[in-house]
Parts: sequence; C-alpha cells; structure tokens
Amino acid sequence: MSELYSASRPVSKNRPNPGALRYLWQERRTSTMAIDQSGVWRFRDLLPIVPDERIVTLREGNTPLYEMPKAAAALGLNWLLAKHQGMNPTGSFKDTGMTAALSVAVASGYEWVACASTGNTSAAMAAYAARAGLRSMVLIPEGKIAWGKLSQSMDYGSTTIQLRTDFDGCVRVLGEIVQRAPVYLLNSVNPYRLEGQKTPAFEILEQCEWQVPHHIIVPGGNLANCSALGKGFAEMLHLGFIHRVPKISVIQAEGANPLYQSLRTNGGVSLEPVTANTRASAIQIGNPASWKKAVRILASTGGWCEQVSEREIALAKAEIGAEGIGCEPASAVTLAGLKKLVASGRVGKEETAILLLTGHTLKDSEYTIKYHRGELLTEAEMMGASAEELALHASLRHEPIVLDAEADAVLRAIDAQMQSALPA
Ligand SMILES: Cc1ncc(COP(=O)(O)O)c(C=O)c1O
Repeated sequence: MSELYSASRPVSKNRPNPGALRYLWQERRTSTMAIDQSGVWRFRDLLPIVPDERIVTLREGNTPLYEMPKAAAALGLNWLLAKHQGMNPTGSFKDTGMTAALSVAVASGYEWVACASTGNTSAAMAAYAARAGLRSMVLIPEGKIAWGKLSQSMDYGSTTIQLRTDFDGCVRVLGEIVQRAPVYLLNSVNPYRLEGQKTPAFEILEQCEWQVPHHIIVPGGNLANCSALGKGFAEMLHLGFIHRVPKISVIQAEGANPLYQSLRTNGGVSLEPVTANTRASAIQIGNPASWKKAVRILASTGGWCEQVSEREIALAKAEIGAEGIGCEPASAVTLAGLKKLVASGRVGKEETAILLLTGHTLKDSEYTIKYHRGELLTEAEMMGASAEELALHASLRHEPIVLDAEADAVLRAIDAQMQSALPA
C-alpha cells in the first residue's frame, strides 16, 4: 500500500504511484489466483467495489490486441489494431462488466438477478450467475437475437423469457419488475458494469506500452461501452498514467442510429428514440439509456459519431474475417465506420486507430453463413454498390463446395482455386 500510494510522488501522498501499479498489474498475470488472472480484477486497485472474497470471476479480460495489416493497407493507414473483446469467456465484452456487477449482487445478498438484452448481456449474466449460484432471468425480444446467444443463456441455466416486443420493450417491462420484486438489475445502467467495462482501456494502454493511441472506434447500441471506456481513459489521465486521452468515436447502424440523428439535428441536446432495425442485432436499440454519457464522451475526447449501412457492415465483417480474426456483425461497424472517418480526413494515415471488436464471430454464425451463400443482402441493399465493391464482395465470399466423395473431384476443386489470386 505505502509503495503504491507513495509519498515520494510530489503531487499528493494519497495518489497512486503509476510505475508501481503498472508493475503490480503485470506481475499479477503470473499468479495462480483467479482474481489476479482476471483481466478485470488485476486492476482491482481502481475497482474498490467488493471485498476480494465476494468476487465472481471467469478470468475474463486479458483479450488480445491484433494487428490488421490487410485492412490497414486497404485504408492507406500505416497500421490498424483490433482489441478483440469477443475473446472473453462468454464471447463478448459484456463479461468485463458482468464480473463486477454480479459480484456486487452477491455481496449485497441478492438471490435473483435480471437483465433485458439483445443477447450478449444475457449470455454473460447467465454464466456469472451460474458460477455464483444465483437465480437469473433474462428478457429478450422474441426472434430478434442471434441463436448462439440465446443458446448460452439456456445452457447456463437462466430463466429465459422471450417477449413479443423489441429490446426497448424488454427494458420497459424489466423496469416494472424491479420495482415490484427483489431482483438485482444488471442492465448497463448498473454503474458497477461500467466499472468493469472501463478496464479494457487500461489493458489497451498496457498493450500499447503506455503510448496513447489516437483513436478508439466503438460500436454504439445502448451506449454504455463507449462511456465506460471513456471513464477508463479519463481515470488514467487523472491519475497521471498518461498525458492525453484517445479520441473515442461511436459507430451506429443506419437502422439503429438515434445518437447519430441526435448529434446531426441538435448537437446532442436531445434524443428522439427510433424504431431500430438492423441485422447487427446486438446494437438494434432505438432508445439508448446512456446517450447523454456518450455525448459527453464524444465531446470531451473529440471523437465523432458515424452511421453505416447494412451493406457496409457485411463487407467490413468479411474483411475482418479475412484477417483470420472474425467478429459478430455489431463489432464490424467499427471498420465500416473507420472507412468513413478516414475518407473524411478525421483519421490520418500516421495515426493509430484501435477497433473495439465486441463479440465473437460464432455468436451469429447464421449471419456469416448467409453472407457467404449470397443470401444476406437484398437486391435493393446491393443497389448502388460500385463495381469495385462488388468485386471485393465476390473475392471475400467463400461458399461451401459440395462434391462427390472422390479425391479427383477434390483435386479439381483445388485446381480451380489455384486459378484465382491468393488472398492478399
Ligand atoms: C457485440 C456488441 N457490440 C456492441 C454492443 C453495444 O454496446 P453498448 O450497448 O454498450 O453501446 C453490444 C450491446 O449489446 C454488443 O452485444
């Protein structure tokens, strides 16, 4: 304690010593204790929310930062990185927030936890509740979440309720339930979720050897994640770990773009909810709870909000897949949005941009399969695509080949592949 809060720093004796903390956070990774191995709780010096013995962890966090050389080259950037939050235990960034908020539920003595979800929150909550031995209930919009996510909440033993409404309708019903029953609310308005979700900001800085990237690009749904990351970077600045923060930009799907509309029409003073409609089901949210925080983060960091079409999302997702990384559609909006930020000169060639890939590609395999079979986008959606874009789609699409069980047939197929160029 005395070294971490060293009096040798002239600023204040109660202020942590960044050098000592940086060392401690790294050192914990070599420990065998679960709370040290967790990429959230190894930063627990900045998460003073529950006693160590109440922590519920699946050793979340510590996710990789990948280079994206093909996408960088296509965009004319010197380099581009992706922080893959889909590599968390339940396959999305939600785990980093859920470990924190669910630990608080345990420490507070709750028996029931609940959330409304577009799928990933419910998967994370169900898993952490199962680990803690709590009962959990998820409210999800019927027919509007990916099967991979629905299967997770069932597998982890949650009471899974599909309501005949959209995500925003589920939030409304849940709001009433928590007024009438002793249920702990685990939606992203829960402040402890944001505490956990701020830690990827610390990891990013660590992975960049404390050189601050210029841009962080985040998908926007309920708009909690951009706020949490903004908080994480702001804390690092405040505590003297860094001297500036990255610009945080939020990307929305055109069909679920209330923040984009708000900023365009009234500079983020008010937000008009929209009826959300996008295949990127994780961000199909028309009335985002944390929009005011998002406006503040954009303003304080100097970032932007962009919107991207279904065609642009599908192309970006295939491009991320072609890097050998993959992600779910909602995460792919980041690359699609970055293209616009580069085209408008907001992201420069020499600058470092990091895409936040929020969910694993296997979360929504149906989307991927439909894309590669050419069954995803409608003719109307493809209208307006340039010849160059059509060629790109064609080169990225890899339909399965069905053959008779003969070596000759397979060899002929390989020959045919040899005629086409190697993937760049
Ligand atoms: C994969 C994925 N990406 C992005 C988001 C959007 O995050 P937020 O709702 O915090 O804006 C979600 C939210 O459910 C998600 O599941």
